[in-house]
Amino acid sequence: MTGNVLIAGAGSTLARALAEGLAGRGHGLVLAARDAAEAGRTAADLRIRFGAATAALGFDARDALATSALVARADAALPGGLAGVVLAFAAMPEQELVERDGTIGLEMIDVNVRSTMALLESSAALLETRPGSFLCAFSSVAGDRGRRKNYTYGATKAALSTAMEGLSARLVPKGVTVLCVKPGPTDSPMTWGLVPSTSPLLARPETVARDVLSALSKNRSVVYSPWFWRPIMAVLRTLPATIFRRLPI
Ligand SMILES: NC(=O)c1ccc[n+]([C@@H]2O[C@H](COP(=O)([O-])OP(=O)(O)OC[C@H]3O[C@@H](n4cnc5c(N)ncnc54)[C@H](OP(=O)(O)O)[C@@H]3O)[C@@H](O)[C@H]2O)c1
Repeated sequence: MTGNVLIAGAGSTLARALAEGLAGRGHGLVLAARDAAEAGRTAADLRIRFGAATAALGFDARDALATSALVARADAALPGGLAGVVLAFAAMPEQELVERDGTIGLEMIDVNVRSTMALLESSAALLETRPGSFLCAFSSVAGDRGRRKNYTYGATKAALSTAMEGLSARLVPKGVTVLCVKPGPTDSPMTWGLVPSTSPLLARPETVARDVLSALSKNRSVVYSPWFWRPIMAVLRTLPATIFRRLPI
């Protein structure tokens, strides 16, 4: 795989690790983030360190209509247009806050579902005309089952995982790789204060980035990262609801 890649949510910890891997493999990068100036600094850094063609754009995923235009903006940002899209943004407010204030959950749905779906559709429309391209999105193991501690966030990720499954049926026959990434807890601001930094289950962002690059090179549809989440989730998915809801997770 070669060509320019849009990373939407380029400021995220996982996206930063993945951007380095992509730049190291010769991809040009269009970095899109809420903080366009920060994306510009990261773009300059990758240009200097890897010789990558880079561009930076701003977007705010609370506005789904404006976000849907991001793919066209990114396609025009570098010569040659886009050959890949990565969605790496999400909001994850505490479940307790979502239960207390409905507007917080709705804002998460705007970011994680409405804007994400809008970007998936505009990406699919572009990439289905470009065999050899790829579409990759960060879902989560949280989307595989509804847990007491984060079921609203989990529901947004379940929506994303389902959309990615359908998109793979639509795009793979057209020569497009569609990869749904399901990380377990990974060291980033999203897990700070929630998962002890000494937990053996806490992954490094670089590990997840490596798994994503490997899965893309093998044209895989789903990757759990680290790998052990695949068997763990396979077991958890088989548990009846009456047992699952009693687990202290
Ligand atoms: N860390 C984990 O344990 C874990 C596990 C499974 C899946 N994931 C998924 O992996 C992806 C990357 O997360 P991360 O761990 O790297 O977390 P992170 O560093 O906290 O990144 C989250 C990113 O989402 C962006 N974002 C939030 N609201 C936005 C908005 N309205 N418009 C544009 N961007 C917005 C943030 O931008 P700002 O910097 O501007 O706030 C931030 O860059 C997410 O999809 C997450 O759900 C993470």
